[in-house]
Amino acid sequence: MRMTRRSILGLAISGFIAKAATQSTKNETQKNSMSNSDSDSGIRVLSTWPFGISANDRAMKILMQNGSALDAVEEGVRVTEADPSVTSVGYNGSLDRDGRLTLDACIMDHRGMCGSVACLEHIKHPISVARAIMEHTPHVMLVGSGALQFAEDKGFMRENIVTEDALRRWNEWKQSKAVPPPTPENHDTIGMLALDSKGNLSGACTTSGLSYKLPGRVGDSPLIGPGLYVDNEIGAATATGVGEAIIRVVGSFLIVELMRSGMEPEAACKEAVKRIVKKHPESYSSLQIGFIAIRKDGKIGAYGMRKKEFSYSLTDEQYPQGTVVSAPSWLD
Ligand code: GLY
Repeated sequence: MRMTRRSILGLAISGFIAKAATQSTKNETQKNSMSNSDSDSGIRVLSTWPFGISANDRAMKILMQNGSALDAVEEGVRVTEADPSVTSVGYNGSLDRDGRLTLDACIMDHRGMCGSVACLEHIKHPISVARAIMEHTPHVMLVGSGALQFAEDKGFMRENIVTEDALRRWNEWKQSKAVPPPTPENHDTIGMLALDSKGNLSGACTTSGLSYKLPGRVGDSPLIGPGLYVDNEIGAATATGVGEAIIRVVGSFLIVELMRSGMEPEAACKEAVKRIVKKHPESYSSLQIGFIAIRKDGKIGAYGMRKKEFSYSLTDEQYPQGTVVSAPSWLD
């Protein structure tokens, strides 16, 4: 049964949960079909990679209680930021060349307001610092020591978020200084997009960035435009993968603008990948890139670069316990 936004508003949460219990879709991998699903104005959350499932769970609980998309994406990605099994985001994230953990994050809401942090150390939840910048300053972005000072002034706790495991990985890397393969473990971001019961969109994006990066390197993830963009009249998009390539085409903004001009979400994501291919004729096959997008009417799309590598997590009324969808990709 497909439900409209209006019908879900009147739905008793207990009934919804009962329906959820009958679904056996958890962690089921779909094949490329979701991007072609009919548009639907129900509540919905999608995020990059299979590790997005548990983040989606948290976000969906908020959406089911008629919470805002903004609260949903912030709370959702906080799950991943705190999860030590995800070694490319937040706590236990990958270190830079000098053994420091510097985090990047941004958030954007349905009003077009946004906040961002880059190179933030010692704070477990950069996404919440980004939201605080959006809500409590006239600025969009704070970086480095200024971001840390702001976070501490706002009551965020300074913690040791560099784990023994992260130091072990970094020490192993130092022995070989090998370029890390483009796997999700080595640089991947959680980007999350949500549509709430009022029909509003928001997005969030958070990462520790490229493993063993040069100190001070900033990727796409904290950048409004490349890493995340939300236009509540049109749709939203977010990115994962090699930040430099995504920045060069301003990927997420490009996708929203292509949707504005009438392109379907999947086609818009594919076009952004195509622009990266054009800009990197020698090296595109080694770049991992993934985009996800949602249109204002709920229709979603995704596209990756490397063969059968990029997948995303989707949670909505059809998949209340979440499903992992394998995105089509340029090199398929
Ligand atoms: N997309 C994450 C990064 O390049 O830092």
